[in-house]
Amino acid sequence: MNIQSSAFLPQILDSIKEKNPMHYKKLKKNSAWEDEMIVQRAEDFLHKYIQLLEKQGLNIEYAVDSYLHLCHDMMYEQIQFVETGKYRYTSFEEVNSRVYGNPDTMEYYMHGLLLSQYLWEHHYKILECFYKNINKFSAGVKNILEVGGGHGLYANEVFNAFNFDFDYTMVDISETSIEMAKNFLKDRDIKFIVEDVYKYETTEKFDLIIMGEVLEHVEDPLTLMKKLYSLGSDNVTAFITVPCNAPAIDHIYLFRNPGELIALYNEAGWEVVLDVAASSESKKSTAVDDPMIPIMHAAFLKKKKA
Ligand SMILES: C[S@@+](CC[C@H](N)C(=O)[O-])C[C@H]1O[C@@H](n2cnc3c(N)ncnc32)[C@H](O)[C@@H]1O
Repeated sequence: MNIQSSAFLPQILDSIKEKNPMHYKKLKKNSAWEDEMIVQRAEDFLHKYIQLLEKQGLNIEYAVDSYLHLCHDMMYEQIQFVETGKYRYTSFEEVNSRVYGNPDTMEYYMHGLLLSQYLWEHHYKILECFYKNINKFSAGVKNILEVGGGHGLYANEVFNAFNFDFDYTMVDISETSIEMAKNFLKDRDIKFIVEDVYKYETTEKFDLIIMGEVLEHVEDPLTLMKKLYSLGSDNVTAFITVPCNAPAIDHIYLFRNPGELIALYNEAGWEVVLDVAASSESKKSTAVDDPMIPIMHAAFLKKKKA
């Protein structure tokens, strides 16, 4: 299969081409679409996603408009980031009320972000790192915690990957995110909790903790990584993704490169056992040093041995 003969990606791309030809040109450079397996996975995902949209009276156009809205926001933030070298916002309270607690913003943001996981090569590389490696860390996993699950894509991957019983808890501060994940994962047995992760309390110790793109949303990432450490069992694996140099409407903590992240993980008691970095502007899979270029980093972590 290639991009032409598959069903949903071409529809989405055609719609983007019509609404924003410049952006379409950029997307067409995505070499991941030469890989049949990637296109097939994207199609399988989009099939489920578009069915879900239709049940809610929405359609592909809604998803594309959400995605382009997100791109527009990011471009706006990128311009001021290049000018100032800083993210526009630094306070959790501000982004909590403007974004997480604002259903209109959160809806288009989560739908847009969901499409970006397949449309942007550097986002896709991170997702690929997850599904290609997650089974290496599945031994003994009985319970899973996901922090900031957002749209629910990672939970969907876990349920597809693991063919044994496990409990799944998703904690997210945004009611809109939790509603979206509930809809997307309707057929799955998941405990959904609307809560700020800093305030989340439980005596449970988790064997797998997943946290995609949350660390850059908090004022004190070290405390959060220590909190995850305390929530983990002795043999816990954590899968953490973080964008560096990536301004957005709710990013408040600026990580400059994956090295900063790895140092933070170590300080919180974790060691990296597998990681990948992917830049939005370069074909290189390793980090570039340009402080203005977004780099996604994903890492599987274990607790450091005493
Ligand atoms: C950028 S989205 C990430 C979605 C998904 N995990 C991914 O990797 O694409 C960030 C999510 O984290 C949630 N979030 C942000 N701060 C949080 C906090 N302090 N506690 C719990 N969830 C939080 C947001 O509501 C949002 O759903």
